[in-house]
Parts: sequence; C-alpha cells; structure tokens
Amino acid sequence: MARKPQPVRKAVLPVAGMGTRFLPATKAVPKEMLPVVDKPVVQYAVEEAREAGIEQFIFVTGRGKAIIEDHFDHAYELEMLLKSRDKTSELNSLLEGLPVTGAVSFTRQQKPLGLGHAVWSARHLVGDEPFAVLLPDDLMVGTPGGLSQMMDVYNDAGGVVVAAEEKPLEEVKRYGVISPGEIKGKAVEVKDVVEKPKPSKAPSRLCIIGRYILQPEIFVELDRKEAGAGGEIQLTDSMARLIGRVPFHAVKTDCARYDCGDKVGFLQANIALALARPDIGPALKDILRRVPL
Ligand code: G1P
Repeated sequence: MARKPQPVRKAVLPVAGMGTRFLPATKAVPKEMLPVVDKPVVQYAVEEAREAGIEQFIFVTGRGKAIIEDHFDHAYELEMLLKSRDKTSELNSLLEGLPVTGAVSFTRQQKPLGLGHAVWSARHLVGDEPFAVLLPDDLMVGTPGGLSQMMDVYNDAGGVVVAAEEKPLEEVKRYGVISPGEIKGKAVEVKDVVEKPKPSKAPSRLCIIGRYILQPEIFVELDRKEAGAGGEIQLTDSMARLIGRVPFHAVKTDCARYDCGDKVGFLQANIALALARPDIGPALKDILRRVPL
C-alpha cells in the first residue's frame, strides 16, 4: 500500500498586496482587514485553514500591514472591558478567531515581485515539508471548507493539489488555467498549468482559485526568480515545473467562492454571508426587497 502523504501543518497567507482596487478605503487599512459582515476577510482564510488541520499560520506581509499582527493577538484592555460588562458573545467573538500563542509568524515580502516571490519569501518558515497557501481575497464558503475538501484528495494522492473552478472563457485571462487529464472522483489530474493565458491560448476553462497544497520542492523552482505573465514571478510557472515529478490534482470543491479582491465580488460576499446569518439575514432581506432597482 502507498505510504500516507506527510501531513500539512503549515499555511502561508500572502497579504502584502497594496489593494489599489479599493482605494481610498485601503490607503491606511490593509485590504485583508476590510470586513465581510463583521469579520476581516483574512480571518475567514485562517478559520478555513484551522478547520483543515493547519497548526502554523505564516503571513507574508509588507509595509503598512502591522494591524494584521494586532488582529491575531490578544487585545487585553478590550477583553477586560467586555468581561467586566458581561458582554460574553462579543468577548467570545474575539477569542474564537485567535490562533494559540506561537502559531502565527510574520515575514515580509520586501519587493512586490508577484505571488511566486511572496510564497518564496516564506521558505525559511515553511522548511522542508508540504504546506498550504491560501489567498485571502478568495473567500470560500462551504461545509467542509475548501482546504478540508482539498486535504481529502491530498491524503489519497499526495503531491500538489489546487482548488479549481470552471470560468467563462472571457475570464480565463485573470487566472492560472489547467490542462486537465483524467478525472478521479472529485479530483482532476493536472497535465499542465498556464498563468493568465489569452482566451485563444487557454488549455481549458478550468481555473485555479486561491488555495494550494504544495511540496517544498517548489522553493527550488521559485528560487530561479524567473518573471512570467505580467513581468511577475508566478507561482503557476513553478508549479508547472513540478508536473511529472510529483502527483498534481485540481479539486472542484462544492464551496461558494467570492472574489473579494474585486468590488462587486466583495459586495456579493457581504450580501450572501449577511443573508445567511440568522441574526441579520431576515432584516437585510426585507431591506433588499425594498431597494429600487
Ligand atoms: C493569482 C494566481 C492565479 C490564480 C488566482 C486565483 O492571481 O496567480 O494563478 O488563478 O490568484 O485568485 P492574482 O489574482 O493574484 O492575479
């Protein structure tokens, strides 16, 4: 019987992006801290990772991102105040989102050279073991969560696993696109990947969305620091070089995915998640029904 793949204990969360699409909101506030209903976007990714068994959270940050560190730390004065006023549910909402002491680390991507470079910046903190990457802009909602569904495939197949979704042909130029092989249950074998192809050059409409399970060999490839699409060091290009060397699968999860890096996607996430909440959903539904369109 094949050996069980090495467990994935660490997750890298690239959060160094400037968030120019959300200016002026992101002038002083990192885009990852913008709230979807009442939680910052980045917290959803941390919770999804934790549910999937991740024990160590590695944030790749940049200038102006320090409040992400504060967010994943205790806020003693606030906690004391809420406690003294018996505001138990508010207090719990703070504590539930908090990784245990020592489970969070931060490193900086010192130059904005692309996603591949951001992941490479975490190489010393990841070390020689498999790891997950979650792009917080891609908010995934489902039970189990997106990364958990990918872990099921990883535990069978090992190697590299990415999340994927079929997109309309005119949108493939925004994504890493997969050349699909054999379908095995929820997983599709990946025969090639290409970053942001023109629709006429796309191998399919199956696009990578921001969840990855990677092997440490990726760092050797990222170390070449070769620029790809858009002049950036692309994670997709380094993953392509692992094809044939490690198993490589894409998982079409049954999660809803919201692109919170885009204004409309961000608003959609807020509306969808708020409507699903028993405390505010009915009131919002009522308001939306009365919105003149
Ligand atoms: C990145 C990746 C791309 C992937 C996408 C998912 O692109 O480079 O392969 O499909 O995330 O959201 P970005 O959105 O950073 O341009």
